[in-house]
Amino acid sequence: MKRRILSLCVALAMLLALAPAALAETVTGTGTAQGYGGMITVTITLEDGVITDVKAEGPDETPGIGGNIIDEWPQAFVNANGIVDTYSGATFAGTTRPGFIEAARAALEDAGVNPDDYMREVVVEEADDEAYEADVVIIGAGGAGMTAAISAADAGAHVIVLESQPAVGGNSVKSTGGMNAAKTADQDENEFGEEAGVEKTLKAAADSWADNETITALAATVQEQWDAYQANPEGYFDSVELFALDTLIGGKGLNDPDLVNTLVGNTADAIDWLRTQGIDLTDVASFGGASVKRIHRPLDENGKVVSVGAYTVPLLEQACEARENLLLLTDTTAKKILTDENGAAVGVEAEGKTGNTVVVSAGAVILATGGFGANLEMVVQYKPELEGFMTTNAAGIQGQGIAMAEELGAATVDMEQIQIHPTVQADTASLITEGLRGDGAILVNANGERFIDEVGTRDVVSAAEIAQPDSFSWLVVDQKMVDASSVIQGYIKKGFMFSGETYEELAEALAIPADTFAATMETWNGYVAEKNDPDFGRTSFAQPLDTAPFYAVKVTAGIHHTMGGLKIDTETHVINTDGAIIPGLFAAGEVTGGVHGGNRLGGNAVADFVVFGRIAGEQAAAYAAELAASLAPAA
Ligand code: FUM
Repeated sequence: MKRRILSLCVALAMLLALAPAALAETVTGTGTAQGYGGMITVTITLEDGVITDVKAEGPDETPGIGGNIIDEWPQAFVNANGIVDTYSGATFAGTTRPGFIEAARAALEDAGVNPDDYMREVVVEEADDEAYEADVVIIGAGGAGMTAAISAADAGAHVIVLESQPAVGGNSVKSTGGMNAAKTADQDENEFGEEAGVEKTLKAAADSWADNETITALAATVQEQWDAYQANPEGYFDSVELFALDTLIGGKGLNDPDLVNTLVGNTADAIDWLRTQGIDLTDVASFGGASVKRIHRPLDENGKVVSVGAYTVPLLEQACEARENLLLLTDTTAKKILTDENGAAVGVEAEGKTGNTVVVSAGAVILATGGFGANLEMVVQYKPELEGFMTTNAAGIQGQGIAMAEELGAATVDMEQIQIHPTVQADTASLITEGLRGDGAILVNANGERFIDEVGTRDVVSAAEIAQPDSFSWLVVDQKMVDASSVIQGYIKKGFMFSGETYEELAEALAIPADTFAATMETWNGYVAEKNDPDFGRTSFAQPLDTAPFYAVKVTAGIHHTMGGLKIDTETHVINTDGAIIPGLFAAGEVTGGVHGGNRLGGNAVADFVVFGRIAGEQAAAYAAELAASLAPAA
């Protein structure tokens, strides 16, 4: 009996220690903290010490990533009667998670209770092993995986998508710029400088690529098109051949010309297909390495440019969810591609969140796991000089798909071709989109001087930046550009931008020589008026940087894209080291190599995932249907 009373006391004491301070009243508190895109505000109501209501605002968090936390955590906190980090263990939604927790702790403090009493552990229930059957199983729910899933489902296949992270998106959701496409209805206003971008490209083809037959033949066709246009300059000047020429020259001639042709020839149709999914990329602008304005970007309801990934990924996810023959499993990490006795891919073995085994048997497998830009060990293995560089990549981009396919004998190409991007925010590794330069921004070094055509290809701009004092630069914009872009407004909210009412005041904030910087700005504005840049030969000018206040963000080069990957053909079959197709195995997006050669053009990653994602989905669905028909008993 004594023992029972003692146990009861211990239990009561534990309960009192664990329970929040008993408050016989309703109290509400509000807290605010910095999230990823801006400020997060959390308001918590407690009745008698129990959390009964949580409201959260974080309008600048990325939909589909941090935005999920803003949507899901209020109810999770009510259910747990405390702060519960349901994303713990996942290197995901970087600064939204700690920001939300900080804001919630501040809200509890504001309500007069001790936040430490409300910190809760996540309890994950063990799940059973699971087995599924599908026509097509897709590994990776980034842009390529979801595009392939929608296409396969629309071709009649039953589709399962496995995503290792807690939410979809991969690297695609971080993509800011837009999608390159040639000969679209949205291309309506050319911008030709003194030396037109087309002429500059034709000159580069003649000067540097005379011994490359593909480039020479394309250049001859483009020259004819350009001559005809100049004789009768009507409509918009662009062509798939010019797009191919830009992509090949940008890729240092290393690209697979057949894959390039497939890419450029299908982008206009891809823009139309995206529109059928509710994804409208209507704004056309300049981007690095493109001879004409070709990058297609989304606008918000106020006509301001927004990030292509944050806009597109949630809409692709909705399109997946709307299809009854498509199942998306997050927190499910593919471990192995299953094969039959002939070496054909017939499914995937994966691990669920609690370590349970998930097996999907399927007619065909699509790899859409992305590249390996977040796997710094692998990056350095292929390109040792990138030791110590930051990366813009999402945490899940680890090269797993390449390793899984190699176990089946898959060949790889161009693995050492790893792109660095010149405008990565110097403290956080956040990507500062090339779109800013296309829209008129310039780069100046620590001496306040320009040093390169800012709209050149990334390899060239990055190399020039690395050669500057301390290997960084300042990217400069003005208020006009800020007013036109939600993306830049987001950078301001994140605290990335320094500002000044005059060039001199901005220079002071940046600790660079004011006279030199002011002279650089005046000179540049003159070049814009003349549409001629005698210093560095820039051919895209957009607008002068003449509207105060002026802003600058400190940028440096960071790892951005891995151009190498699995060898595929134009139908996205994965090719083995003997040059033969691996039956049943398809791949699309950054996991593949050959499309971008030695340097990917900005805007070609989204083009890649839409074009090749669609092909992979259609091809895999057709293969699975044929296989099923061949196995069906004769009627
Ligand atoms: O700078 C950017 O917005 C990047 C675009 C891309 O890599 O395609």
